[in-house]
Amino acid sequence: MCGIVGYIGHRQALPILINGLKRLEYRGYDSAGIALQNGDGIRVVKKMGKVAMLEKALTQVNQAGQIGMGHTRWATHGAPNDVNAHPHMSQSGNFAIIHNGIIENYATLKKRLINRGHEFTSDTDTEVLAHLIDEVYTIGKVSAEVAVRLALSKVEGAYGLVVMCKQEPDILIAARKGSPLVIGIGEGEYFIASDATPIIEYTKNVIYLNDGDVGILGKDSLTLKTIKNVPVTPEILTLEMEIEAIEKGGYEHFMLKEIFEQPRTIMDCLRGRVHPEKNDIMLGGLSDVMDKLLSARRIVIIACGTSWHAGLLAEYLFEDLARIPVEVEYASEFRYRNPVILDGDVVIAISQSGETADTLAAIQLAKSQGALVLGVCNVVGASIPRETHAGVYTHAGPEIGVASTKAFTAQVTVLTLMAILLGYKKKTLSEARYHELAKEIMNIPDKIQKTLDLNQAVVELAPLFKETTNFLYLGRGVNFPVALEGALKLKEISYIHAEGYPAAEMKHGPIALIDENMPVVIIATKDKTYDKIVSNIQEVKARKGRVISIVSEGDTIIRKMSDFVLEVPVTDEVLSPLLAVVPLQLLSYHIAVLRGCNVDQPRNLAKSVTVE
Ligand code: G6P
Repeated sequence: MCGIVGYIGHRQALPILINGLKRLEYRGYDSAGIALQNGDGIRVVKKMGKVAMLEKALTQVNQAGQIGMGHTRWATHGAPNDVNAHPHMSQSGNFAIIHNGIIENYATLKKRLINRGHEFTSDTDTEVLAHLIDEVYTIGKVSAEVAVRLALSKVEGAYGLVVMCKQEPDILIAARKGSPLVIGIGEGEYFIASDATPIIEYTKNVIYLNDGDVGILGKDSLTLKTIKNVPVTPEILTLEMEIEAIEKGGYEHFMLKEIFEQPRTIMDCLRGRVHPEKNDIMLGGLSDVMDKLLSARRIVIIACGTSWHAGLLAEYLFEDLARIPVEVEYASEFRYRNPVILDGDVVIAISQSGETADTLAAIQLAKSQGALVLGVCNVVGASIPRETHAGVYTHAGPEIGVASTKAFTAQVTVLTLMAILLGYKKKTLSEARYHELAKEIMNIPDKIQKTLDLNQAVVELAPLFKETTNFLYLGRGVNFPVALEGALKLKEISYIHAEGYPAAEMKHGPIALIDENMPVVIIATKDKTYDKIVSNIQEVKARKGRVISIVSEGDTIIRKMSDFVLEVPVTDEVLSPLLAVVPLQLLSYHIAVLRGCNVDQPRNLAKSVTVE
């Protein structure tokens, strides 16, 4: 949720921190702050609002320092304001801390500290930790590192944090439990961040901290140990990400860039997994667990947000193509409702970030009950791929726009490949149908490219809906999750209320809302429910609703009935969501831009929800 960046080395830290905070702003954008050290005590500057506000404030202060840390905040405890922004100092000014996550027992800790004479300036859980570390340091007369480890042993909750100590100006101390941290290794310098985006332009050599790890970063030294002081051998990995992947590349917004990247990201997702001549599917990440997957009595899918929509779509595909019963669960509900995990259940966790707190907790619960847990994840090396027994990466590349687009279509691509492969291996799909689907999925990148030609039509359509306050999205079968996703995209970035429904359910409630002011987006590509959806459109038109239809190329029937039509290329019905969702992404994008919304950083939302 929040973003962390830290630097220690031979360069001036501030430009690296500011650059890093701008790259991290997609993670949290309520407020931002930095701490610098130059042997003259710790200087903290923090400001409510965007990083640009912080930059303005920085012009007033001494900017020197080769050690520093910065933070972008997504508020949990306490309103977004200057005081609650990170870094937080201890009362004596000995320590500064930046923190992602939630200290769950902060109220108890705070009460005890107040009883011992501590005074707090902010409403945050983080400030409590700064005071606690300082107390252990001062009373215990221990080193800063020992103070951090001992203080953390009293903490319940999740954290990814970086600490600076005035008396030990040559180190940064980092610790992780539940919230990710990655260390970048340079020459005579180290970086620390909540994800690799602020590091990539300086080094590709990184170490991901594991839960319970503490890192002590010096200019020329790095020590890793556990919170209990057991040495940890670092595993150095090479980042495969390129800097272009996290820049806008000429687009006005990351979201638009990411929508337009989809032909390539889906090809990246398919590459090496579908044999282009033999039309065979191979999913290397699942080979070790394939037998268990084939004998699964049930698949339980856990996810949140857009990833949950991909999961719902997968339910249709796994049941239809592989005849495996599927349940799709919100991770947040699954983890707290004492779920029944049966022998032979396979759990699939879907997550773009691989860090969503509820999904991680649901995975741990499923594992503790003996389930085989697979991951479908985008961010390589994130917590979810490391917590799951096996899995498949979606290879969509970094997604910076908070509203998910290319990650969704990559998730759907992976899940579709899984369903087709399982269907073939279980012989619920004929060999001919298996090869036919494998061949057609390879045509999807080109067909998405063609679908993107709709952009201009959507640009022209969007002004008509700029002032609209409500939208309804309807779809049937595999296009029902697409309707949900279309509605979610619109509300996330334009703040227009939108609801998605299975088209036939409209009669059981939402139809009451339909009048000449209600736009109804209907996904009506050619499939076995086509005639039914034609009837649904008639029902909307009979009540004067304004129909925007997403249809297959060459459709004539629905074209006549609709107010607006967006045509997508013809494909197999099983694959049609990959095309149908694209105009919905574009529609929400252009409406949001016209309404003056910050599409990449919508209010109140976070890209990576690392707290429950
Ligand atoms: C947040 C994001 C959504 C995302 C959801 C699940 O709410 O804003 O775009 O779908 O988290 O995240 P995940 O990383 O697990 O897919």
